[in-house]
Amino acid sequence: MDSRVIRQKFLDFFKSRKHVQINPARLVSDDQTTLFTSSGMQQLIPYLMGKTHPEGIRLVNSQACFRAEDIEGVGDNRHTTFFEMLGNWSLGDYFKKEQIWWVYEFLTNVLGLDPNRLHVTVFEGDNLIPKDEETFSIWKDFGVPEDRIYFYGVKENWWSRSGSPDQMPVGEIGGTDSEIFFEFPQVEHDERFGEKCHPHCNCGRFMEIGNSVFIEYKKTGDSEFEKLPQKNVDFGGGLERLTAATNDNPDIFQTDLHKPITDAIVQVIGNPYEDEEEKKLMRIIADHLKASVFLIMDGVIPSNKLHGYVLRRLLRRAAIKMRNLSGRLDVSSFVSMIRIIRTQYNEIFEIDWEEGLPRVNKVITEELEKFQKTLDKGLKEIEKISEIDGKIAFDLYQTFGFPYEVTEELFRQKGQDIDKEQFKKEFEKHQELSRTASAGMFKGGLAGHSETEIKYHTVTHLLHQALRDVLGPEVFQKGSNINTERLRFDFSYDRKMTEEEIKKVEDLVNEKIEEDLVVERKFMSVKEAQKMNAIGLFGGKYDEEVSIYVIGSNHIYDVNAKDQRERSGYYSAEFCGGPHVEHTNVIGGIKITKEEAVSSGVRRIYAELV
Ligand code: SER
Repeated sequence: MDSRVIRQKFLDFFKSRKHVQINPARLVSDDQTTLFTSSGMQQLIPYLMGKTHPEGIRLVNSQACFRAEDIEGVGDNRHTTFFEMLGNWSLGDYFKKEQIWWVYEFLTNVLGLDPNRLHVTVFEGDNLIPKDEETFSIWKDFGVPEDRIYFYGVKENWWSRSGSPDQMPVGEIGGTDSEIFFEFPQVEHDERFGEKCHPHCNCGRFMEIGNSVFIEYKKTGDSEFEKLPQKNVDFGGGLERLTAATNDNPDIFQTDLHKPITDAIVQVIGNPYEDEEEKKLMRIIADHLKASVFLIMDGVIPSNKLHGYVLRRLLRRAAIKMRNLSGRLDVSSFVSMIRIIRTQYNEIFEIDWEEGLPRVNKVITEELEKFQKTLDKGLKEIEKISEIDGKIAFDLYQTFGFPYEVTEELFRQKGQDIDKEQFKKEFEKHQELSRTASAGMFKGGLAGHSETEIKYHTVTHLLHQALRDVLGPEVFQKGSNINTERLRFDFSYDRKMTEEEIKKVEDLVNEKIEEDLVVERKFMSVKEAQKMNAIGLFGGKYDEEVSIYVIGSNHIYDVNAKDQRERSGYYSAEFCGGPHVEHTNVIGGIKITKEEAVSSGVRRIYAELV
């Protein structure tokens, strides 16, 4: 059975059980807190929370998904950044019993999977949410023997867009889940992954092929949950993996969804798909190129920020891996692979390939040709440098986008070893920076984004600056935590604040709120941000674009003021991924309710909206 048949059978199966097929969401997320659609449920959040869906309470679809956070994980038999998720949902209609039975029936009767090779997992419970005995009994009643039902904790059997319960922002929904794994006995357990094999072992013998989430909770406080008004089901099954299981081949890159691409790579490099190291590179190329095609079809173009940055990374990684495999970067080979991808997905999603394909070819060709020049330029630079250390390797990477692995390979040829640790240190500094810039945006919707939380978020910026104004520039944010009731802000300062200082800070924040300052997001190079004295930056020299929230650039400040910030006409500039209010007076006002010590040199403030 190929993927087309499996996709159709899934949709038909649930349609015959009164589900309505809904259109997939765009791959580039419309939701402001995430960059991409990474699961089918993302477009359904308001309906899972109780809003009435126009198509009813039983829904089904096939959703193209992209998970940027998995880029580094691609290369084994089952991980990709781009995949198709088959999904069905109950919005307050049926629950565990029907769901488990239908999924089981679909897998065993429709796809014909051997029930003896199915293993399932169930939530074991923690201090907040009880053990899911009900799901355990249902699986058992359907004939799954107890020794193939496994209990796992929150890390494995709790699902929300932002991960485990402690990572969820207040307002986020989630629930326990039950995953289904298919066992490939032809894959020998690899003891490097642990003594005993089990569904979550990473050796590749087990493959997760489906996940039913029972969404019935909403986070309401630091460690508080309340039940949603309705009990929902959110199922997702990766089409690539279901196809691999149905065809009893543990390598998803050998299903019809990837094999034509890996075959094309084999043609280009002239080596078979055999050697484990080479297979890894081929899988990365196949995945990254396919993901790039879909992102460009959805309007993304390579750049140094957000979606464009991810796309650029995918293309560069694919190009480098191709260069590693074949010794050169042949752009035309990518163009022929793009044609293959188009054929694979013809008439699957509502994609206008006639319009899009020439655009995809152009974007990818231009980007790769530019990258080829980057490589050439970097190579010339390297020629000039007699001794290359990790710091220089990082500068080459940062300035020319010159990949470390190429630098390393060239010097190995020259008989020189680069200090990888030093490179790694520089790299980590840089990663820290990107993480802060895009906090929450590369994963599922992380930051809480109710109106109140957004207000509190802007207040933390004002508070941060006001504390620095009142107490001095040694004040620096150490942490913050927001819920719908209050904000908590930790900062470096070595003594208790006086009543008077607290009052001053509070007044200053309220003054800035009253002044109705505009809050703007600006993208600029780190260099420019440093010039602005933006808070939250790390040292180093970077050309990469970062996101800075500037508060108050509409305000006319005293041109004679001593403070550089005030002369340049803004109140606060801080490195941040947002979201924020658009202008400050919507906040209303704040009250500092408490000031206390956290640890030596770190103080904590609680504040509430008034
Ligand atoms: N949302 C769940 C997942 O991504 C099930 O669709 O696994």
